[in-house]
Amino acid sequence: MKMSSTRDIPVTSGVPRHVAIIMDGNGRWASQRLLPRTAGHAKGVQAVRRAVETCGRLGVDYLTLFAFSSENWRRPADEVSLLMRLFVQALEREVTKLQEQGVRLRVIGDLSAFEPRLQDLISQAQASTVHNDKLNLTVAANYGGRWDILQATRNMLAKDPTLAQNPAAIDEQSLEAHLSMSWAPEPDLFIRTGGEQRVSNFLIWQLAYTELFFTDCYWPDFGEKELKAAFEWYSSRERRFGRTSAQVHTTAGR
Ligand code: FPP
Repeated sequence: MKMSSTRDIPVTSGVPRHVAIIMDGNGRWASQRLLPRTAGHAKGVQAVRRAVETCGRLGVDYLTLFAFSSENWRRPADEVSLLMRLFVQALEREVTKLQEQGVRLRVIGDLSAFEPRLQDLISQAQASTVHNDKLNLTVAANYGGRWDILQATRNMLAKDPTLAQNPAAIDEQSLEAHLSMSWAPEPDLFIRTGGEQRVSNFLIWQLAYTELFFTDCYWPDFGEKELKAAFEWYSSRERRFGRTSAQVHTTAGR
């Protein structure tokens, strides 16, 4: 069910309904061990597996992972090609496990930049998990929040060109319907590992009222203990969405 967190106060429990993660620190994890940066990404895949399994078990409905930003193409060519290989391998090897765990996979971003084989694997993995409903796993690849808002605007106008003559008719909901994650509630909890305190062009529209959690832990070291600590912090937050504290206590859940 689509519900905007900015308009409605979701019923909160210790477990957020939608968790969005920037998986940062793979390179530094590897450098600390005198390993190539790519070893950190390989280890990062194991942490992805752990996060999917743990979120499914704890009752999270939506898990969204930032795997590759529009800006990551600027990295050294060998690192970019290793990351592409890891995506291909993960799609080839992990789909059976996603099926067993009832995970539906979606990939968002400008996928046209990826090689056709990777695009095919993405389509196949999405199609074969389409009926799963335990956990909605979304991987953002060649994704940028500004790109998302632009493509939504273009698609909205392409679908209804009369809006260009009547811009006052455009409201948040009409634009939101064209965003890549229009089918999901906005993230309740954003986690960034690796010590930086930035949103880095991830889901910038949808993070407007999301609780932001930053940890120094590098992504390859992020496991169940760290995820539970983030959930614990989240459950202590008072989400007001512009209201006063007193209002929240009388309207929570409405
Ligand atoms: C950021 O660490 C991480 C990435 C840019 C890539 C994330 C990719 C994975 C975890 C592996 C593949 C994912 C899937 C979904 C199969 P960084 O390299 O910026 O680390 P640094 O800041 O320490 O240099």
